[in-house]
Amino acid sequence: MLSTKKEVMDGLFICTSLSLFFILLIIIKFIFRTKQHLPPSPLTLPIIGHLHLLTPLPHRIFQQLSQKYGPVVSLWFGSRRVVVVSSSSVAEECFTRNDLVLANRPRFILIGKHVGYNYTTVVVSPYGDHWRNLRRIGATEIYSPSRLNMFSSTRKDEVKRLLFKLSHNSRKDFTKVDLRSMLSEMAFNIIMTMVAGKRYYGDGVSDNEEAKEFRDILSKIFLYAGATNPSDFMPILKWFGGGGFEKKLMELGKRNDAFLQGLIDEQNLSKTTSDQSKASTMIHHLLSLQESEPKYYTDEIIKGHILVMLMAGTDSSSLTIEWAMSNLLNHPEVLKRARAELDAEFGQEHLIDEPYIFKLPYLQSIISETLRLYPTAPLLMPHYSSDDCTIGGFDVPRDTMVMINAWAIHRDPKLWDDPESFKPERFANGGEEPYKLMPFGQGRRACPGIALAQRVVGLGLGSMIQCFEWERVGDMKVDMSEGEGLTMPKAVPLEAMCKARPLVDKVLF
Ligand code: HEM
Ligand SMILES: *[C@@H]1O[C@H](CO)[C@@H](O)[C@H](O)[C@H]1NC(C)=O
Ligand SMILES: *[C@@H]1O[C@H](CO)[C@@H](O)[C@H](O)[C@H]1NC(C)=O
Repeated sequence: MLSTKKEVMDGLFICTSLSLFFILLIIIKFIFRTKQHLPPSPLTLPIIGHLHLLTPLPHRIFQQLSQKYGPVVSLWFGSRRVVVVSSSSVAEECFTRNDLVLANRPRFILIGKHVGYNYTTVVVSPYGDHWRNLRRIGATEIYSPSRLNMFSSTRKDEVKRLLFKLSHNSRKDFTKVDLRSMLSEMAFNIIMTMVAGKRYYGDGVSDNEEAKEFRDILSKIFLYAGATNPSDFMPILKWFGGGGFEKKLMELGKRNDAFLQGLIDEQNLSKTTSDQSKASTMIHHLLSLQESEPKYYTDEIIKGHILVMLMAGTDSSSLTIEWAMSNLLNHPEVLKRARAELDAEFGQEHLIDEPYIFKLPYLQSIISETLRLYPTAPLLMPHYSSDDCTIGGFDVPRDTMVMINAWAIHRDPKLWDDPESFKPERFANGGEEPYKLMPFGQGRRACPGIALAQRVVGLGLGSMIQCFEWERVGDMKVDMSEGEGLTMPKAVPLEAMCKARPLVDKVLF
């Protein structure tokens, strides 16, 4: 006999105890999992989850959900878990205690792969050394006050061209102007002149074919970046109808890369010809840094920075000016007060100038109030959890896309008195608490272009108020509903009546 009866019994006992132990472990784990305190969620449809909620104005749908389910709501976009935050206090928690864990970006938005250089540009890059390095380059070599000051004459020149266009038919009487296109061209010219020393819109365009190619590529990028593309959220769709979309994105990525590379190559040549207009451009500057640190300043990194400035820094500013002007047309008393402030500061001889825009508290209040009601990135940009965390007392697992509904926070009646009304006076006492008003985001991922945006918006809007009388086209109030798009545009592009003030003859002609 190999074993006694006792030994067999002992063996059996050990076996059953072990199995029982493991079964218990599994049960505990299961209970623990279901005990996970996830944020509340509306009814989930099979397969698509809550994708049907991704309508053209998601910030409005998300605001309604928060009124029903509370400030933290969890959703499924296909197979992706999403959490939407709609209160100031929970947003504060996201940008302080959870800032690091939420500093990531999702890696499945397809345009970031094919046009954004395989998720290596600063906007879409995941959190990590690469992203930190891009932000460092940005902070010192692109968005620093000294770099921005180098281009103040560019901004002044483009704003003057805008004023000149506006004055075209308005020196005798009121004339109708289409502000959307004029402001957008100004914003693009400002960035392109900073980047490459050339303009692509209006007069003074040297190469029309190139300008046309640029405008075409850019409108396509904006179109595809704005489309909430279902195959971003349901990878399986790529194998079916969604595949055509990815192919289009790949082609667009190639075309865009060829274009940007062309801009870089050109500057390389002009280094030797020492063309003055090119010598101060951002490309030139980054290429000269490439010579000493080729590892950090690759062509691809430089192209990524240009792309990001064009995407993040143009419409966001020009649409903000358009929203502000629309508000002023609907509130003539505010417009009058803003003009009085400008006249008191500059008289009838001098045009508003950049360093002074920060000394005009009422103009600044108008801009803050505009960004409160009409933040051009109403849901900021999507964040992504790189680890498990808790948000507003709920458990949020890693790999969750986290969106902050700034638009809803800016209109929260618990934070703001009469939240739906345009009242710049509410900012009369200076700064707001940071987590009440956050059109540029907060924390590590906050917008690095804020100083540039403040200059472009302040100078553009201030000059338009200073130089022209403004009226609505017809008796109807300007329609203030928001439309679909990457950077929340006004649904109806703004048209207005303007008439040049006597000052225009002195400062422009
Ligand atoms: C009124 C104008 C603007 C608004 C409202 C705005 C708003 C924002 C917001 C909400 C974010 C995302 C923050 C987050 O992820 O939580 C962002 C990111 C960014 N913005 Fe702006 N922005 C404006 C102008 C600009 C300009 C002029 C530039 C540069 C030329 C710029 C460059 C960027 C970049 C590079 C990022 C990505 C930062 C990162 O992911 O690390 N923005 N912006
Ligand atoms: C994109 O990046 C990922 C991860 O960094 C890498 O594995 C992949 O090969 C890259 N794809 C291309 C096309 O370069
Ligand atoms: C600039 O031109 C030289 C000579 O043609 C070339 O070797 C170099 O790689 C170029 N640099 C860039 C940044 O394209």
